[in-house]
Amino acid sequence: MRSYTKASPNGAVSKREEENLHLAYEAACEGIVLLKNDGALPLKTKKVALYGPGAAKTVKGGTGSGEVNERHVVSVLEGLENRGFHVTTKDWVESYEEYYLRVRRRYRRQKVANILKPGSNILYENFRMPCGPEIRKTDDADTCIYVLSRQAGEGGDRRAEAGDYYVTEEEKAAIGYCAAHYENFVLLLNCGSSMDMGFAREIPGINAVLYICQPGSQGGNAVADILSGTVTPGGKLTDSWAKRYEDIPFAADYSYLNGDLQNENYREGIFVGYRYFDSFGVEPAYPFGFGMSYTTFQMEGKACLQGSRVSVDVTVKNTGNFSGKEVAQLYVSAPGQNREYQSLAALGKTKLLSPGEEETLTLAFDPAALAFFREADNCFMLEQGEYVLRLGNSSRNTAAVAVVELGEAVTVSRHLPICPLQSPLQELTAPKRKPETLADVPHLVWDVSAFETADYTVPSEETQDRQVEKFLDGLTTKEMVDIVVGVGQIGAKKRFDLPGSVGNTTSKFWDRGLANAPLCDGPAGLRISRHNTITKKGRILPVEVTLSAYSFIPKFIRKHLMGNPEKQQSLYQYATAFPVTTVLAQSWNADLLEQVGAAVAREMEEFGCTYWLAPAVNIHRNPLCGRNFEYFSEDPRLTGLLAAAMTKGVQKIPGHYATVKHFACNNQENNRTHVSGNVSQRALREIYLRAFEPVVRQGKVQAVMTSYNRLNGVYTPNSYDLCTVVLRQEWGFEGVVMTDWYSTNPRQGDNALALAVGNDLIMPGGRYFKRKIFRGLRKGTVTEADIRRCCGRVVRAVFDSAVQKEYMK
Ligand code: BGC
Repeated sequence: MRSYTKASPNGAVSKREEENLHLAYEAACEGIVLLKNDGALPLKTKKVALYGPGAAKTVKGGTGSGEVNERHVVSVLEGLENRGFHVTTKDWVESYEEYYLRVRRRYRRQKVANILKPGSNILYENFRMPCGPEIRKTDDADTCIYVLSRQAGEGGDRRAEAGDYYVTEEEKAAIGYCAAHYENFVLLLNCGSSMDMGFAREIPGINAVLYICQPGSQGGNAVADILSGTVTPGGKLTDSWAKRYEDIPFAADYSYLNGDLQNENYREGIFVGYRYFDSFGVEPAYPFGFGMSYTTFQMEGKACLQGSRVSVDVTVKNTGNFSGKEVAQLYVSAPGQNREYQSLAALGKTKLLSPGEEETLTLAFDPAALAFFREADNCFMLEQGEYVLRLGNSSRNTAAVAVVELGEAVTVSRHLPICPLQSPLQELTAPKRKPETLADVPHLVWDVSAFETADYTVPSEETQDRQVEKFLDGLTTKEMVDIVVGVGQIGAKKRFDLPGSVGNTTSKFWDRGLANAPLCDGPAGLRISRHNTITKKGRILPVEVTLSAYSFIPKFIRKHLMGNPEKQQSLYQYATAFPVTTVLAQSWNADLLEQVGAAVAREMEEFGCTYWLAPAVNIHRNPLCGRNFEYFSEDPRLTGLLAAAMTKGVQKIPGHYATVKHFACNNQENNRTHVSGNVSQRALREIYLRAFEPVVRQGKVQAVMTSYNRLNGVYTPNSYDLCTVVLRQEWGFEGVVMTDWYSTNPRQGDNALALAVGNDLIMPGGRYFKRKIFRGLRKGTVTEADIRRCCGRVVRAVFDSAVQKEYMK
């Protein structure tokens, strides 16, 4: 059997690789956020002391399926040296290496010892980087940079303890020492999500704080350019950073903290992130949308109405001494009871403005985005009253620019009830808002007749496709089951082989004209196998592990799965590690996200990837979620807008598909395969589904991945409401819905039911899953017609894929 691959014997750096690395660098520059600066930045010197766990071991991204196997990572140390800095503490950095390796070896030994024990969670990496050797100043630099690092990833949540969400006493002492002994002290936060910053308020002498997050393979160069002032920071937080963990609503109930891992009750309702802080008068450490610059800007806005659409022309002027970009943020306070104080309605980012230069942006929104969900009759509604438009550069630094009045309540859309709660949930309610007098801003009046009501209570018909129907007519039910159940990573036969893909659709029908479709992680770029070999029989084997957690599999097992480059020919694939999604989102730059999507698509084309398993759009509900770095924000509007742009970028090259995930409410990693997120319909629709909707409607995403968790007691791949009512009937989704990996394992979601409700593809597949489908057929859980429908969707997608077009000419 002949098989094909696009992995290449040529491992040299290509033009595409160089271009994508440059984009990864630009994305890091745009997404890094300056949190504090008393004038120490940009640095006035090129001689610096450098300390901290992330100095040379800068964490470029999180662990698990969000990893990327890139050619090289530029650390902060390397970036500084690349940009001509003299680092005076290289001896400390070198001795850290030995320290690190010792601790890492110990960690590895424990992991390996536990890996074969029942219940061990191979994917979950909870390695904590040691603080390192004691710091004693012996150099003559007056400026010090300290890189504080944290790692997290899928399979487990972060912990509200020292060494994770909090700093350790040792770290605090090291930071305190540096801040006291160097005239200028800059702290770099190298963690994928927010952390407690109480220590930074206590320690005197911290002159600047830069949130570099996990900035991808080019992060070190971006950091050095920001420190030197070559680049002016312009990133804005996509989350509110709490002053104290306890300030987050129901913080003590999150994940492992309350001892109940079976139920996660979303008692805060819609009051997530700034919606809570602003409505309940709690002051955050850093607000949503916040980020400093080296320059200053002035912003003026003029609102106008066109039908029901509101737009604000915003003139942004650079009034400082550095070139820079600014983000204009438009928030709206809507009338009505129990509503958030304000929500983000629109945003825009300027080009690079020179001192004195100005640009006018148009920020527009459809008022449907402001509607609240009335559970009593399942309608999205706009309340009668005054809508205050606030313009600024963070959620807490705005000025009212207009008041738009709606003369009567408007029903925006009618829906079927979905995902009912299994038991009542006592939700937070907002305190009454103080009335505002806004006499000196323009008042506009909406024409109520310009609004229309959408009715989603009537099911829509799916169109039939003759080419697909003809193909299906030639298949038995058993063969259709072969198509709707994927094939895994290891040992499975693939006619088109993309080494390192995390799954494939079947190759069984290759000779009948249906290619297989490779699927690859993940949100920071394609995670595929860099170095492989090909045996004489044509088998492609990896030379390195494709997931860091696999290195904990004992060597005697791994040995059988790996290639030997000394005896076999090597094949290479070098993909780009972009900054993690949170950094990309902190750019607040939809064009940039589209470019990153398009850059990934070029790699998909080069390596033959059909489905990219991204973007991941779950909401940052709590900073401890182990996968926050893979996700965009606490705000659904920002998330949806940016993820839709990224999706458009990916799907610009025909035959390559984005996969939005994890649908829905996968907001906790501990016990993720059993926990039930218990959410009211209102919060579900206003917060959690709103992040997905634009990716389907505007981004026209071609695939959706359901999640591991249960939602109000029902496993999401078994939810007709999610997979069919919301996705297809309301949002008009026409692509493939797939399970998350092994989420229909025993005692999890039901395989047959998944197909019956519209989850078309079971990943990564195997015999067990097929058996369950046949049993379901016998029991009547699923019908042949259901299987045919799911199969048709998969076949349609594969027919249109680039691999199919190339190999089935
Ligand atoms: C993750 C998904 C990922 C899949 C394939 C799962 O563990 O939740 O996000 O795409 O694995 O690697």
